[in-house]
Amino acid sequence: MLTFAYALLFYIAAAVLVGGLAFRIWEYATTPAPLKIPTTPAPRTRSGVVVRLGREVVLFESLFKANKWTWLFGWAFHAALLVVLLRHLRYFTRPVWELVVLIQPFGVYAGFAMVAGLLGLWGRRLLVPRVRYISAPSDHLMLALLVGIALSGLLMRFVAHTDIVAVKSFFLGLMYFDWQPLPPDPVLLVHLGLVAALMIVFPYSKLLHAPGLFFSPTRNQVDNPRERRHLAHWARELEAGRS
Ligand code: HEM
Repeated sequence: MLTFAYALLFYIAAAVLVGGLAFRIWEYATTPAPLKIPTTPAPRTRSGVVVRLGREVVLFESLFKANKWTWLFGWAFHAALLVVLLRHLRYFTRPVWELVVLIQPFGVYAGFAMVAGLLGLWGRRLLVPRVRYISAPSDHLMLALLVGIALSGLLMRFVAHTDIVAVKSFFLGLMYFDWQPLPPDPVLLVHLGLVAALMIVFPYSKLLHAPGLFFSPTRNQVDNPRERRHLAHWARELEAGRS
């Protein structure tokens, strides 16, 4: 019964995550950008834009310029999340990839770094009056969800161990439609329940800023309005219709 409930939950969560993300990305991609508005100084070539976006993705450059504390906690959280997620790939592939094996020892430190980063970001929302004023309940909820996932994960790692071989069989079974029993450990069930909740809210939450970055006109436009006239897709069609 438990296995069935969690199997169903993860199929639904995966469908909502993939379908929802695809829909939101389609929405972003088809939203017109009628004006040329790159934040200057901006690159004047396509490859320059790629480098700029790359710096944004890897280093969070504009956040660094805006606020050093937010950058420190935000960057630490995201870097740690990447390591944690890479470490988790061992539950989904057989054999486990070389890189995922190499990263295993760092995954645990990353778990702590993730919590530290999240608590820093949460502290900012609670302690800085200007940020507290603009913080909506959903901002706190997202942080609580991520902290809950990380803490339940660390609890499993250090206190209430679970049978990770069985966890892997369960997830491989989900992927190959050959269902295997899920260990009924309460902390694991909490961890997985929160992960499923995260997958379901992700496409409708502020966490969408991850794919959204690539569609941000202030970051992805080339600074070449003098060389090339900027025309939104619909404006081009309108103009073609008139002439
Ligand atoms: C379906 C997906 C997931 C499964 C099956 C899963 C399973 C697990 C298990 C079994 C552990 C304990 C590891 C051990 O005892 O060695 C763990 C730890 C952990 N999990 Fe997850 N988890 C999932 C998704 C996530 C996500 C999305 C996050 C972060 C947002 C996360 C964050 C953590 C952290 C921080 C730890 C502790 C550090 C570590 O062992 O890597 N988990 N997870």
